[in-house]
Amino acid sequence: MAKRIHMNAFTQCCIGHHSIGQWKHPLDRPLDGYRDIHYWMDLARILEEGFFDTLFLADVHGTYSVYRGSRDAAVRYGTQFPSNDPTLIIPAMAAVTQHLGFASTFSTSYFPPYHTAKLFSTLDHLTRGRVAWNIVTSYLADANANFGLGEMMAHDQRYDRAEEYMQVCYQLWEHSWEEDAMQRDRERDMLIDPAKVHEINYRGEYFNVPGPHMCEPSLQRTPVLYQAGQSGRGVAFAARHAEGIFAIHPNTDACRAAVRELSAALALEGRSRDDIKYFPGVTVIVAPTDAEAELKLETCRQYRSPEGALALFCGWIGVDISKLDSAQSLRDMHTDSIQGLIDYFSIVDPERDWTLQDVGDYLSIGSVMPKIVGSPQTVANELERWMDEGECDGFNLVPVTQPQGFRDFADLVVPELQRRGRMRSAYDGETLRESYFGRGQARLNERHVAHRCLPEWKR
Ligand SMILES: Cc1cc2nc3c(=O)[nH]c(=O)nc-3n(C[C@H](O)[C@H](O)[C@H](O)COP(=O)(O)O)c2cc1C
Repeated sequence: MAKRIHMNAFTQCCIGHHSIGQWKHPLDRPLDGYRDIHYWMDLARILEEGFFDTLFLADVHGTYSVYRGSRDAAVRYGTQFPSNDPTLIIPAMAAVTQHLGFASTFSTSYFPPYHTAKLFSTLDHLTRGRVAWNIVTSYLADANANFGLGEMMAHDQRYDRAEEYMQVCYQLWEHSWEEDAMQRDRERDMLIDPAKVHEINYRGEYFNVPGPHMCEPSLQRTPVLYQAGQSGRGVAFAARHAEGIFAIHPNTDACRAAVRELSAALALEGRSRDDIKYFPGVTVIVAPTDAEAELKLETCRQYRSPEGALALFCGWIGVDISKLDSAQSLRDMHTDSIQGLIDYFSIVDPERDWTLQDVGDYLSIGSVMPKIVGSPQTVANELERWMDEGECDGFNLVPVTQPQGFRDFADLVVPELQRRGRMRSAYDGETLRESYFGRGQARLNERHVAHRCLPEWKR
């Protein structure tokens, strides 16, 4: 049987996420919607009607100021600026849906793990087990400064610190409260059994956390864990911790190679390929016919802001490409930001001498996502090809206009994928983890490293 496609919707609480400039498009609504709770509630309803697994929310804490050594382009064109907090909109969206999951990006570099553990437990309670955490180590130098952290830690050290961070979170979520600690015993006047709530007494290089966890166990205990880093360290981290991966690949060959690299890394951690879902990002423009979809793309192109898109890309890779002769020369560079994207243009077209203008034009619609433009049949064919050749498990959908692009996908592509037996017509189970891994799988499975991160009392 053909593998089922899982769909996530990818966005951010901002006006310009990946297609910078579309705020001028008459159909694009985030201009006012991003700060309106009803916009988010409507979006959640659209996604649940389309059987999406998750609304996936990115987040950043600084401006994109690498391009031309200034934040001017990012501010002028609204490149992920302004950007509101993604965690606060989740409960309102959960209240108007029953199955849709909500993944929020939260950086290990800025917030202490005790705070993160409490926040995600609260969200898991309020969503009845439908929350996921996109674990990022981040990349913006001025975000670091905004948190008063001084110079940004080196790339690999950020991952070292994140490793310890996860140990603290697991001990709080999985090992602080025993399953039956909450007694609610009126006769004995015992709400909670103190003998079943434990300090974790974590002492490490970066963190010292006594505990106990402030929240009783939620339906999933640990939120579904997402990760989005593609360097060697990123892949090793994902193989150890993640249950979902958000990746960016220009073509199916690159996707397949990355999935196979990850599979090998998973084996080293005692986990299997089935323990993880792999989601490349895609930008889709769909209309009833191929010609109409091309026309839609042309309309979107009228509203693009290439300089804003360049600000985004330069912020990601930490290199000001306006200073280079060609984006081709990025190929052998090392960066302390998103290492996995540095050779992107050499992979998209190794023969082309990418000028600054080419790069800006290319990125202004859907940034680094592969673009799929066409009728529902054309889009479904291409998504099936990615599934089969890229060996992925579904996609993070990044539409050009929002929420129209999500609506179009739900109305036009989902029925086509359902006809082909590639998308479901009902949700599995109640929690987000069950939506990905099947009924009865609300908790982390027994192979996950969280079960081996034991605090003193349990050793
Ligand atoms: C597809 C993708 C999405 C990401 N989204 C975010 C984000 O929303 N916020 C953030 O601070 N970092 C984000 N990151 C940064 C990563 O979490 C990671 O810190 C960074 O990519 C450096 O690691 P790497 O070199 O292993 O990719 C993202 C990275 C990738 C590849």
